[in-house]
Amino acid sequence: MSLITVRNLWKEYGEQVVLERMNLDIGEHEFCTLVGASGCGKTTFLRMLLGEETPSRGQLLLDGVPMPNEPGPDRGIVFQRYSVFPHLTVLGNVLIGLELRGARLLGRLFGRARREAVRQAEHMLDAVGLSAHRNKYPSALSGGMQQRLAIAQALMMRPRVLLLDEPFGALDPGIRADMHRLLRQLWQQDRITVFMVTHDIQEAFALGTRVLVFDKVRLDTQAPGAYGATVTYDIPLLRRSEHITREVEATRRKTERFQHSLPHGASATL
Ligand SMILES: Nc1ncnc2c1ncn2[C@@H]1O[C@H](COP(=O)(O)OP(=O)(O)O)[C@@H](O)[C@H]1O
Ligand SMILES: [Mg+2]
Repeated sequence: MSLITVRNLWKEYGEQVVLERMNLDIGEHEFCTLVGASGCGKTTFLRMLLGEETPSRGQLLLDGVPMPNEPGPDRGIVFQRYSVFPHLTVLGNVLIGLELRGARLLGRLFGRARREAVRQAEHMLDAVGLSAHRNKYPSALSGGMQQRLAIAQALMMRPRVLLLDEPFGALDPGIRADMHRLLRQLWQQDRITVFMVTHDIQEAFALGTRVLVFDKVRLDTQAPGAYGATVTYDIPLLRRSEHITREVEATRRKTERFQHSLPHGASATL
């Protein structure tokens, strides 16, 4: 069964059709990159996954069950926004999600629960390379560090599904490459499912296991809002590492067959 099922999904705002007839099956641990012209409903789609928006028609299922209409921590879907608090330290920012979840009334954790949360936060800061900066305030961090902090903040909630909306657009190329490595590493480690909107096609192909292209299939120039966008191309990508593993495996089998076919005592090198 797929993790997320989209069946004949439509989203309209008044007269304007934003998305129409969307159908998708997304499995666990997929890395979907979403590309398409600005205004064609990519953010709206993520907000429906989060539960901030409801579909106008059709179904959106999580584990085969309709998603609740409210965003909630239980469904395990987290939106990485730029939600770093300037008055909290790096460590405080990574802790804040757990504090709010663990202690709804006081907004603080105490005793053993807090020590455990701090341990997890330190582990996460280590993973994103910010341990040395744990006591700094966000204003003292570079743009790339602030992005890493925002990602750490989102991943601290141990989401099953991570939603990213053009997360690296403002970063310079070197830092972007670092962020790509980090994100793929965390995606592998936690086996999370990722939806990432990007306008950078190269980035979409480099990071995704699947590229979803959003576009309109019909257009009425008299009434631009009459028709919505949908996923016009759904491109599965074989990851290079998987590809290499398969090639190596195939070559090994071929070699074995070849060697078995030789007369006893003969040997060959390929
Ligand atoms: N809350 C809303 N109310 C009315 N229209 C909206 C709302 N949110 C988005 N839209 C419209 O839906 C369309 C798609 O927006 P969006 O999902 O942000 O596109 P994208 O992320 O692909 O650029 C836009 O025309 C936008 O104006
Ligand atoms: Mg958008």
